[in-house]
Amino acid sequence: MTHDLFHGRTYDDFLFRPQKGRAGSRQEVRLTGRCSRHIALELPIVSANMDSVTEGSMARVMALEGGIGVIHRGMPIEEQAREVERVKRSHGWVVEEPFCLPRDATLREAKEAARRHGVTGILIEETRGSRTLAGILSKRDLPWAGGHDAEPVSRYMTPFDRLHLGRPGIPLEEAERVLFEHRIEKLPLVDTERRIRGLITKSDIMLSRDRPDSTKGPKGRLCVGAAIGARGDFLVRAEALLEAGVDVLVMDIAHGHSEIMERAIREVRERFPDVELVCGNVGTGEGARFLRDLGADAVKVGIGPGRGCRTRLETAAGVPQLEAIHDAWLAVGDSVPIIADGGIQHDKDIFLALVAGASSVMLGSLLSGTDEAPGRVIEDPGTREKRKIYRGMTSPQAVFEALYDDADPEELTLAMETPPEGQEVQVPYRGAVRDVLQRIRGHLRSAVSYAGEVSLEAVRRQVLKRPEEYLIPLSPAARRESYER
Ligand code: XMP
Repeated sequence: MTHDLFHGRTYDDFLFRPQKGRAGSRQEVRLTGRCSRHIALELPIVSANMDSVTEGSMARVMALEGGIGVIHRGMPIEEQAREVERVKRSHGWVVEEPFCLPRDATLREAKEAARRHGVTGILIEETRGSRTLAGILSKRDLPWAGGHDAEPVSRYMTPFDRLHLGRPGIPLEEAERVLFEHRIEKLPLVDTERRIRGLITKSDIMLSRDRPDSTKGPKGRLCVGAAIGARGDFLVRAEALLEAGVDVLVMDIAHGHSEIMERAIREVRERFPDVELVCGNVGTGEGARFLRDLGADAVKVGIGPGRGCRTRLETAAGVPQLEAIHDAWLAVGDSVPIIADGGIQHDKDIFLALVAGASSVMLGSLLSGTDEAPGRVIEDPGTREKRKIYRGMTSPQAVFEALYDDADPEELTLAMETPPEGQEVQVPYRGAVRDVLQRIRGHLRSAVSYAGEVSLEAVRRQVLKRPEEYLIPLSPAARRESYER
């Protein structure tokens, strides 16, 4: 079933008819959406699970800004789980299982661990794995001069009897008071037997206060997603990711409306009945209903609109993206959120995707030129223009790099046998992803205000009732007038 208005159409085919504006500041415009059934987003943006877009650094900032990042699966299982842990540990009222080293560990080990886990202070335990607190080694404890790397951390740490401590379950206000009164940065939580039960840090508290809209779980920790496939080691991967604390699994394959997917969802649901599970991709209403009925907590929609994608060119398979989104919404309504994935070139496309039925939008190329995306900045020696590489996950380059030592043989054979449906492109360097998200937030708020509402959700409700009253299909001349500059 396709609504005539959307038939054969995508983002550049429409303008939005402006409505009478309401007084009030644009800053107050709410943009709340959903990534999946149980994860709400104050900024309805999801960073794509691609190896040139999302690893821990990207996912952390996405969640801080009110969106969420999905860590790609083009790496060994342990590495992906570590990226998830990095996000989960980076922030929250309480770090529940802080990273520890034993007192006989060397300074070299400590420096390496601090870098790998992205922490500035390490709790020191009496013996490896004992979780009995012996002290804290923080940055300022480290000797300035080199040549001490082989010495034990116990020589430099602040020892137990000089530490200020909290008890497990300490209220946040009390922890804040202790941190402030003693001008300290870290408050380890220990039980009566000196066993480590958590860690509260000043920077985490300040960050949370600064960012009330960030995407957090019940313990104040940032939310993060991670991708799994639908065959091979996907269940082992899922288990490791869940152990690392992932909030949502994204089961992502090129053709989600398939028997492979059906089997895989059943297996995941059997093993992990309560896991938050996003499934995709599909491009039709039937596909969306299929995934919803199998128990997906969100449906990812998009066959071939992506910037790094050649599926439509190579196979002719695909549905114009706005048609696909609206079809999916007609099929499942708001019973399950729709994530519009791929093809976003301008910020207005995000707005159109959301009012056509999506609950959030997944971005690849738009975020890939930022500092937080993996990959180096390249500078053109002639023009001095800075760029980064963005590539489809089935581009020859991405497939080649995924041939890591312990890759799943079944997945590898499949990758080698399938001709590429992805490509590599260069995108302009964009600086901090936070700035890109601020820009998107600003444009979405303006769009809501032109639409005469004070929240995105209200616009969406109106448009979905009578899309033809709001969306103006464009003639070629109108499109030139609108979008060609
Ligand atoms: P944008 O347009 O935001 O799209 O860059 C991101 C989405 O593109 C999809 N993707 C691919 N699709 N072959 C494809 O057919 C590929 O190699 C490929 N790599 C990524 C994916 O859905 C992503 O979120």
